[in-house]
Amino acid sequence: MRKKIVAGNWKMNKSWPEAKALAEGFTGRKDDIPVGVHVIIAPPSLYVQGLQHILPSSIAVATQNCSQHDSGAYTGEISAGMLHAMDVKYCIIGHSERRQYYGETNAIIREKVDACLRNNVAPIFCCGELLSERNAGEHFDTVSTQVKQALFHLTADQMAQVVIAYEPVWAIGTGVTASNEQAEEMHAFIRGVMAEYYTSAVADEISILYGGSVNAANAADLLACPNVDGGLVGGASLKVDDFMTIIQAAQ
Ligand code: 13P
Repeated sequence: MRKKIVAGNWKMNKSWPEAKALAEGFTGRKDDIPVGVHVIIAPPSLYVQGLQHILPSSIAVATQNCSQHDSGAYTGEISAGMLHAMDVKYCIIGHSERRQYYGETNAIIREKVDACLRNNVAPIFCCGELLSERNAGEHFDTVSTQVKQALFHLTADQMAQVVIAYEPVWAIGTGVTASNEQAEEMHAFIRGVMAEYYTSAVADEISILYGGSVNAANAADLLACPNVDGGLVGGASLKVDDFMTIIQAAQ
């Protein structure tokens, strides 16, 4: 049975007092997390340790990026080994904002996926097309290229540790979400690509999350799609009530 996962990506938001208050808000609602729904919060890296002291053990902490290298002269970077040492279980890799603003290519993202797996950190691998690609009918090609180039060197056992997040770039932070049909169609396509290269048993085990303007109002319908196994949530993860509603919708 693949896992139901709801992950919050805080991006570069919240002052430290605000971050603490938000984490305390989630801790206060920890009994409202349905059994079987895995909750992950990815705050700015600097806040990870402080928030681990506040959040309950039922909420895993992630980071939003890591280096592809294990150690060395890479000023400003954090390695996957360092994440593991600090009990960080997941790391978001290849978010479209990293691709767009920091030049991350599929080749770099592949190295980051490897760095995570080498260090027992589960990558939350992001893929998704631009609006221009969807309008040109190239969205399936874009996503399958991203998935194949970054992931298809992995063994089936390694692949089983990866979480995939489909985040159409045109839906991120825009308030324009993919329709349930668009999300389900792409998720089923990704699972099909996985089944073709690995096996359907492997493909069936992989959690594929949807991200892009998920909110308290649309989550129930999106997360009810058969191939949507949860959400990667930006803006709505910064509000306790909204994020809790999304978590409950994943049940
Ligand atoms: P929004 O939910 O704010 O659209 O952000 C989605 C996202 O990028 C999560 O990684």
